[in-house]
Amino acid sequence: MLKTVVMVSGGGTNLQAIIDAIKNGVIKDTEISAVISNNENAYALERAKNAGISAECISPKSYSDRAAFNKALLEGVLKYEPDLVVLAGFLVVIPPEMIKALPNKIINIHPSLIPAFCGEGYYGLHVHEGVLERGTKITGATVHFVDEGTDTGPIILQKAVEVHDNDTPKTLQQRVMEEAEWKILPMAIDLIAHDRVVIEGNKASVI
Ligand code: GRF
Repeated sequence: MLKTVVMVSGGGTNLQAIIDAIKNGVIKDTEISAVISNNENAYALERAKNAGISAECISPKSYSDRAAFNKALLEGVLKYEPDLVVLAGFLVVIPPEMIKALPNKIINIHPSLIPAFCGEGYYGLHVHEGVLERGTKITGATVHFVDEGTDTGPIILQKAVEVHDNDTPKTLQQRVMEEAEWKILPMAIDLIAHDRVVIEGNKASVI
């Protein structure tokens, strides 16, 4: 049984996709031990509670400085002894100590085809604003392992999505979530649960 902790900051639609995928058997041999958010108002916490999953907020506002918050976040995650940590719309920089404590055990969903439109400043709607500004015809989503960089870890899965001429950042975000994020994140978790993802250097492959 793969024990996971899912980390969220917002609406939690990716969390909901994971919850639903476990319920309907798309993801097997996996449990969500806890959902942790940095944002006490994240609707994702409601989604967790509605699904009977332990949900807690570890907010930077409750700590005197970033180092104290980072320590609390790491302890808050490690107490569940996760096999995998899933960043599902989590907008806080993962502390280096956490990366060291959980090497190749943290994955993230990013709403573009990395290495395009990722890195500093590319999160949430800003990603899709960049895609539309550049006039790209294809975008998508990426699931990757988290390393010390920003969106730089080994890529596990990607899925392409067409950009429509009349897209706004919101319509594009919704289609990327529906057609890509909500599919490849559960798929990646199930693959990891069944030891079907191997890492060689900075590359991951599915066996
Ligand atoms: C999504 O676009 C996701 O790709 C990004 O955060 C947005 C909101 O995700 N990481 P969610 O609805 O909170 O899962």
